[in-house]
Amino acid sequence: MALIVGLTGGIASGKSTVSKMFADEGIPVIDTDRIAKELMKEQEIFDKIVETFGEEVLTPSKEINRNTLAKIIFRDENKRMQLNDIVHPKVKERVFSDIDHYEDMNHQMIVVDVPLLFEAKFDEFMDKTVVVYAKKKDQIGRLVSREGIDEDYAKQKIKAQMPLSKKKERADFVIDNSQSILETRKSFKRVLKKLESLS
Ligand SMILES: Nc1ncnc2c1ncn2[C@@H]1O[C@H](COP(=O)(O)OP(=O)(O)O)[C@@H](O)[C@H]1O
Ligand SMILES: [Mg+2]
Repeated sequence: MALIVGLTGGIASGKSTVSKMFADEGIPVIDTDRIAKELMKEQEIFDKIVETFGEEVLTPSKEINRNTLAKIIFRDENKRMQLNDIVHPKVKERVFSDIDHYEDMNHQMIVVDVPLLFEAKFDEFMDKTVVVYAKKKDQIGRLVSREGIDEDYAKQKIKAQMPLSKKKERADFVIDNSQSILETRKSFKRVLKKLESLS
């Protein structure tokens, strides 16, 4: 049995950055953001989203416009829950089948990158949890420069999630990404050693 590690953090706190560090060690990483993106192209999910949010979430070529959808759900908690109810069960299904796949390949450790690990109660299925931490002002700065959005919208996106300080308390391990990438790598290596001793 592989050790299943749930990797989370806040928006733009550095989950993908740390995911890549795990992948570079040859550890499989299941990226739930990517899965959710793929699922939105599947007919069943696509239809439910259009039914719930209307044609205005579609691009001219009839694909789901994730930016438009994001704007809707980040200002309305009800809408956010509706979208989660459509997408989360399918994401879970895919994660479990990917875990089976990597276990069949005899991997000792499998990482699942889940932005809403605690919010969606996904942590119940993980052996250990890791939170990638950054200070709020770093999160805002990184969000603004990565997505080209303004500070207010960045703050709104951060507010829609469980506070990062709370996630930090709940995590088994914390990787500090509030300084340089070099420092993050050191923090990552320390946590990796501990995880390897458990797997
Ligand atoms: N330690 C760091 N210093 C400066 N920029 C960083 C650092 N870590 C990540 N970034 C940048 O911040 C942005 C968000 O990081 P990312 O790993 O994509 O976060 P997440 O996956 O949690 O949303 C990216 O553009 C990334 O290149
Ligand atoms: Mg990411």
